[in-house]
Amino acid sequence: MRWDDRRVVITAAGRDFGRTLAIALADLGAEVFLSARELTAARRVRDEIRRGGRQRVHAFACDLTSPASIRAFASDVAEHTDRVDLLVNNGSRYLAGPDLLSAADDDVVDTIASGATGTVLTTKGFLPLLLNSPAPDVVTMVSACGTPGHHRSDAHDAFYAAKSAQAGFVEILSKRLRPQGVRVISLYPPDFDNADPLSEEWHTTSRQAGDALSAHSLVECVLFAVAQPRDCFIKAFHFEQA
Ligand SMILES: NC(=O)c1ccc[n+]([C@@H]2O[C@H](COP(=O)([O-])OP(=O)(O)OC[C@H]3O[C@@H](n4cnc5c(N)ncnc54)[C@H](OP(=O)(O)O)[C@@H]3O)[C@@H](O)[C@H]2O)c1
Repeated sequence: MRWDDRRVVITAAGRDFGRTLAIALADLGAEVFLSARELTAARRVRDEIRRGGRQRVHAFACDLTSPASIRAFASDVAEHTDRVDLLVNNGSRYLAGPDLLSAADDDVVDTIASGATGTVLTTKGFLPLLLNSPAPDVVTMVSACGTPGHHRSDAHDAFYAAKSAQAGFVEILSKRLRPQGVRVISLYPPDFDNADPLSEEWHTTSRQAGDALSAHSLVECVLFAVAQPRDCFIKAFHFEQA
């Protein structure tokens, strides 16, 4: 498929997987609207992409725990484009610690707000622009922690709650948006390694059967799903843990 006529929004692209995906999609020619909680982080990634030779990239601030910030992000993007072809709900705060008592209340609130409420409101905010696309897709980075019965992560219970809420949201959204032509595609990865896509390691990291899942392979899952003809609606990616 051609990426140079696709317009992509990615949340939490100031570091790690969001940055990786922003760089990969810009590299393929997509126009990228990336956000990070801090505008400086978003601009740093935008500038990295521009230095790599891709100029169609825009940086925004978006705090996923703030409805006003999410609304401002969507309306700022709408000043640049009348449609979005792909929304990537990547942002979600991680909270470690398998002991419920170990986290402060504020951290619990923040974790659930960024992952759960943030994903719902971001999708809501961008839906009008997605519906203007002839081929709209919503990709959400959930987690194996959002799979019923999963217990193998050391993540905090609040992170499990956030990811389970995301999973419930995309499940119903997938059915409800299908008649409008929007594919809701979700990934449920276990812990994965994220080599810097601008480093040599990106190309040399082993991706054999015994290796941990890599960000490189996850990027390829996203590209594969989105590249399918519209009758092929890949709803979810689940991964066998090593
Ligand atoms: N890495 C893994 O092993 C793994 C496994 C399964 C699923 N996932 C999911 O995949 C996605 C990306 O993973 P990752 O490894 O890149 O995550 P990460 O390293 O934990 O980074 C979290 C991202 O979310 C952002 N964030 C946190 N709170 C935010 C808020 N209130 N507003 C806006 N952004 C906020 C962070 O921004 P700041 O820089 O501002 O903190 C950061 O960009 C996440 O949804 C994650 O849960 C990851």
